[in-house]
Amino acid sequence: MTTAETATPATRPAAAIGPRPGGFGGGGAMTPATNSIGLAAEHFAASMLYLVAGSAGLVWIAPELAAGTFLSPHVAGVTHLFTLGWITTTIFGALCQLLPVALGAPLRSVRVAHASFWTFAPGVGLFATGIASSSTTLHNVGISFVAVGIVLAVANIGASLRTARMRDATWAAVILATGFLSSTLLFGIILLHNLDTGFIAQWRLHVLASHLHVAIVGWAVIMMSGVSYRLLPMFLLAHGADTRWIRGALVLLTAGVVALPIGLLTGVALVAWLGVLLLEGGVACFLCQALAFHRVRVRKQLDPGLRFAAAGLAFLAASAVLGPVVLARGVGHGHLAVAYVATGLLGGVALFIVGFFYKIVPLLAWTARYRNKMGKGKVPTVAETYSARVATVQFWFMVLGVVLLATGAGAAWAHVARCGAVLFLGGALLFASQMARLVLGGHS
Ligand code: HEM
Repeated sequence: MTTAETATPATRPAAAIGPRPGGFGGGGAMTPATNSIGLAAEHFAASMLYLVAGSAGLVWIAPELAAGTFLSPHVAGVTHLFTLGWITTTIFGALCQLLPVALGAPLRSVRVAHASFWTFAPGVGLFATGIASSSTTLHNVGISFVAVGIVLAVANIGASLRTARMRDATWAAVILATGFLSSTLLFGIILLHNLDTGFIAQWRLHVLASHLHVAIVGWAVIMMSGVSYRLLPMFLLAHGADTRWIRGALVLLTAGVVALPIGLLTGVALVAWLGVLLLEGGVACFLCQALAFHRVRVRKQLDPGLRFAAAGLAFLAASAVLGPVVLARGVGHGHLAVAYVATGLLGGVALFIVGFFYKIVPLLAWTARYRNKMGKGKVPTVAETYSARVATVQFWFMVLGVVLLATGAGAAWAHVARCGAVLFLGGALLFASQMARLVLGGHS
């Protein structure tokens, strides 16, 4: 069991020599829960491996993306290296810290969290490889592990949230998002069974569109909104912002992510369009909330992590513009659909998570390495544990990579899509080198 650490200046790492000032690498008043750092670390190590594997996979599937063939098993396999391997594993790892530190909800069971990790993380690799290679045995074994991992994680998170001392928008968002993760799993299992049997026939596209919106918006974007509500003010040193937007974001995103699949699966266009309208409103509220924090920030210069998060939000906005066009043209319009999902998933969600990773992981690594060395000689700051210059190069590689990949897919330019994928892979490798440097302890 972990203990929640409360926010008092006395618990902050010493500002002069440690993280400046305390909190998840930002300016608030929260310090890491040291007894779940190992748990978070195993999640983050695995998610980093999956980011690199997924990025290498992008180079491989770039021509298929440019051809608009999003129903290819290769595309589905690589997609899940990102969605389950990078995004979901990182969220699970971050929650090991967020629940005790930010919500006053110690993890119900650290042992169950480890068990969830050791079933989920290997399961993702088997599942993605099984889908990509069209191996029924492999994807069935993989999904069994993935499902056990998700059920354990959802049960553990749910039990922890019952004891939370803080019951605010972040708490509500974590509950909503984990609920949508469970629905994602159900839609996913239907789609997987369909790959073997074809039992949903012409409904495949509608179920797929429902699955990916429940997953991306319900699981990832709602989680991002809730977590940013708590962490952005700390990262930006933003006090006194108007926080009313978050309620609109959570209500509209939730309503939209329920209405859209109902509209798609019943074939009632009006309900599907209502869903789109609600989702657009929800994304707009989320962006307004982030802007409200940004407007009152004390820290004027954005550090590497915040630049990635800002880029993620910009891509999310671009994807929200494309969404209605995709629905108007029909979900079967491959090129546009691929550009839409690439912009939202790779640009919006994946890059936003890279940004928060940059904020959280160096602080945890710093705490693990230096907390007992404070006052016993020179200790680097958190910012000195990675290179800001490499982070800037990584930023442009990844941002340009998403732009070229989405453009190449939208315009059917295979070379452009492949260039984008190579750039994105370059960015992922630089990112991995930064994290290796953190672990090995080199600093500038
Ligand atoms: C929870 C376990 C999951 C399972 C079992 C699963 C299963 C599947 C399957 C079988 C497909 C291919 C459908 C087809 O081609 O007919 C698919 C597609 C997709 N899934 Fe998942 N999924 C899961 C989680 C997620 C998550 C968490 C996300 C996003 C955050 C996600 C996003 C997507 C996307 C974007 C596609 C479309 C990829 C393509 O074009 O082939 N999935 N999923």
